[in-house]
Amino acid sequence: MSLTENNLLVVDDDDEFIDGAKRLFDGRLPTARSISDALQAIESGTLRMVILGPSYAREDMLDSVRTLRHQDPALISLIVADSVTANLLRAAMRVGVSDVLEAPLTEEKIEQAISQFSSDMLQLRRGGPGSGGGESVDRGRVITVMSAKGGAGKTVTATNLAVLLAREEGAKVALVDADLQFGDVCLVLQLEPKFTVVNAAAELHRLDSQLVESILTPHPSGLKVLAAPLEPAFADDITTGGLLQIIDVISERYDYVVVDTASLLDELLLSLLERSDQVLMVVDMDLPSVKNAKLALETLRLLKFPTNKVQLVLNRSNAKARLDDKEIEGALKTQISARIPSEGIVAASVNEGRPVVESAPKSKVARGFEEVAQVVLGHTPSQASSGRGVFRRN
Ligand SMILES: Nc1ncnc2c1ncn2[C@@H]1O[C@H](COP(=O)(O)OP(=O)(O)O)[C@@H](O)[C@H]1O
Ligand SMILES: [Mg+2]
Repeated sequence: MSLTENNLLVVDDDDEFIDGAKRLFDGRLPTARSISDALQAIESGTLRMVILGPSYAREDMLDSVRTLRHQDPALISLIVADSVTANLLRAAMRVGVSDVLEAPLTEEKIEQAISQFSSDMLQLRRGGPGSGGGESVDRGRVITVMSAKGGAGKTVTATNLAVLLAREEGAKVALVDADLQFGDVCLVLQLEPKFTVVNAAAELHRLDSQLVESILTPHPSGLKVLAAPLEPAFADDITTGGLLQIIDVISERYDYVVVDTASLLDELLLSLLERSDQVLMVVDMDLPSVKNAKLALETLRLLKFPTNKVQLVLNRSNAKARLDDKEIEGALKTQISARIPSEGIVAASVNEGRPVVESAPKSKVARGFEEVAQVVLGHTPSQASSGRGVFRRN
């Protein structure tokens, strides 16, 4: 079944908003005045999308949206807000709202939402209602590589990891450069992108996996890259919601979506973390790096972010001014999941545009990246020998 105005419902108890909504689509748009009415409509089995009015665009009202999602995990919920702020967007996303639309609600916006979410919905429905969780059915895993300090090794980790994952049998891997101002994934992989995330963002209203495919840049390893904007100023054209939507579309076709990021704990990064199945936090072996990682983790805990998704990757693990592993784990209250040693060949590989796992596969540092890949594949290094090379999802 496709998404039409027949299986969507507009919910609010504000007369003016409901009257306005009722007038849309020649009066064919169904409306309800409360969440409990919406719950009844869910029980009738035809409801696919709920559009909640501005009364729900408040943090204290958002919790009620959760009940809808509990009832039907595949239900798409949107909120109309008088002003779309970063805080609202984040809070809405946390309760599973798919998007926040700016008031007033118009036919055009509803149609856009329908076309935008129709393919998502089909994807979710494929697993059938009640198939558990709903949101990750048939989608690839999103793995975000972050660090609280620049130069920690995110880009070398993300690129080498993505190349290794692409070697897994049958695995389709995409690498998204979400360092929107200074992304250098293409430089490090020696790619000259024809299109970038800016093109994807400009096509949001009609973006599907086929269109996104034509925007990705292929790497000889089989990996596909969504390039960062070519100039820092273009980053302004990319909204957080837009980038998340692009990642969602990519995850329809790709088993792994690796996301490289900037070292900024901003709205974009928080939303990316929220969307990710797994987060690799790269920590360099020096005091400022560990201090920043600690601050970042504390912030995430304060925001009630599920930090169990976060795994630590220690970079330059053999650095001369070595800190003690146990001290680092204690300070960060998290175990180290993988270690990458420091080796001169990394700089050469970056300049040459060839990841070390290709140019020096036997090196210690390449082995470190293999350890990172095993973390993602769900193996511990000690179990790696039996399961290596076999593509595994989750
Ligand atoms: N394990 C390592 N050994 C040697 N050099 C490294 C290592 N990790 C990173 N580097 C160097 O540090 C630089 C910054 O790494 P990069 O991945 O670009 O950091 P980030 O993306 O976090 O800013 C790279 O150009 C690379 O030369
Ligand atoms: Mg980088």
